[in-house]
Amino acid sequence: MPALKLGVLVSGSGTNLQAIIDSIKAGKLNASIEIVISSREDAYALKRARDNNIESVAICPERYLSKMEYEEAMIKKLKEAKVELVILAGYIKVLSPHFVRAFAGRIINIHPSLIPAFCGKGYYGLRVHKAVLEYGVKVTGATVHFVDEGTDTGPIILQKAVEVKDDDTPEILAKRVLEVEHELLPEAIRLFAEKKLEVVGRRVFIKE
Ligand code: GRF
Repeated sequence: MPALKLGVLVSGSGTNLQAIIDSIKAGKLNASIEIVISSREDAYALKRARDNNIESVAICPERYLSKMEYEEAMIKKLKEAKVELVILAGYIKVLSPHFVRAFAGRIINIHPSLIPAFCGKGYYGLRVHKAVLEYGVKVTGATVHFVDEGTDTGPIILQKAVEVKDDDTPEILAKRVLEVEHELLPEAIRLFAEKKLEVVGRRVFIKE
């Protein structure tokens, strides 16, 4: 089976991008990262791409007159690279229905909580873990899901729980959740690449 062509959207440190790179290098994922697009010029994720000879570009929303023009610039790059699956890996912008429809059923996101808890508008990065600790839940985790036209509302592919400890800070908890993210995201991409995911309504069945 030919390697699945991936486009990865990033905004920050790129540890999830690194997890995908490492999984491909280890021969665990039959995919190739054709392009990395960052919403920020200074994202460390861009260095990770360069260090691994992966084509990368910063496409920054503030340089465009409208969200539509910004998203069109990304769509053009992704289509030129013949991307078959778009991965949001630490990407913090909310994509419009226009972008989502351009890759219907072919966008996957990783979120650092057990959706539908602690997700949606304003829940990203450390804010998620701060909310988890403030609420006092005993269990949090990570979720990989398909992206639909809502925010963190698409069908869930994989989830894994992480225990919240009494002495956790948002930073410590984030680190522990990130380890789980780095397991789940490559695994979800592998399942997609091997055509083992079947979406029925809101549910995703895994045909291992
Ligand atoms: C991660 O917690 C991810 O779930 C969230 O952004 C954080 C940083 O991701 N979306 P990365 O290190 O840039 O991949």
